[in-house]
Amino acid sequence: MDVADTNSVRGAAERVKREFDHIDAITNNAAVLFETKAFTGDPFVDIDLPEFFETFEINTHGPVRVLKYFAPLLYRGTDRCIVNITTEGARLNPAGSHYIAYSASKIALNLYTQKIRNYLASRADPSDIRVYMIHPGRMFTVMGVENAQIQPQIPAEGIWDIIERKREVQLEIPFINCRGEEMPR
Ligand SMILES: NC(=O)c1ccc[n+]([C@@H]2O[C@H](COP(=O)([O-])OP(=O)(O)OC[C@H]3O[C@@H](n4cnc5c(N)ncnc54)[C@H](OP(=O)(O)O)[C@@H]3O)[C@@H](O)[C@H]2O)c1
Repeated sequence: MDVADTNSVRGAAERVKREFDHIDAITNNAAVLFETKAFTGDPFVDIDLPEFFETFEINTHGPVRVLKYFAPLLYRGTDRCIVNITTEGARLNPAGSHYIAYSASKIALNLYTQKIRNYLASRADPSDIRVYMIHPGRMFTVMGVENAQIQPQIPAEGIWDIIERKREVQLEIPFINCRGEEMPR
């Protein structure tokens, strides 16, 4: 599905419902990074508005869209888990002025994630839905090429282990890396 397209996400959720009835875990991984670390322009006047808005459409609105249509399937699942893939750059004291749209889109995703955590924790019948925001690491992927340090299989396995409870993580810690360790916020 295209996470920037509501019809696409809704259609995917309907198909999963028909074929599987429920799901147990959602990982919001899809994202874009249109900017480069070497950008030396003026962050006010040189900002590329279509790219900025598309970054939010995919990185921030995408997970919101996915959870709107897939949460009803998750509610019927067992040992449920939501993982929103974010980044170490999604913090209020980041270094440098590069990756502006990307970092802003991910810190918005982090705040959204914290709000749904708060909602689940506040319910009279506390939910067993685990919700995490996870920084996967600096990976050798298309997106990560400028900063890469690790192969993507390492975080993929770590995140899978967290979902499968093979690696226990305290629910009280919202922002973690792929080993389940707390990330600075
Ligand atoms: N790489 C890193 O070092 C790094 C560091 C921190 C966080 N992250 C995060 O880790 C996650 C994975 O990143 P990555 O490094 O694997 O990036 P990547 O190599 O650029 O892959 C991004 C993936 O997102 C998909 N995607 C993009 N737009 C989409 C859309 N509108 N609908 C559905 N899928 C879409 C792409 O699908 P197509 O190939 O079909 O376009 C691709 O599979 C992202 O959330 C990223 O922000 C990565």
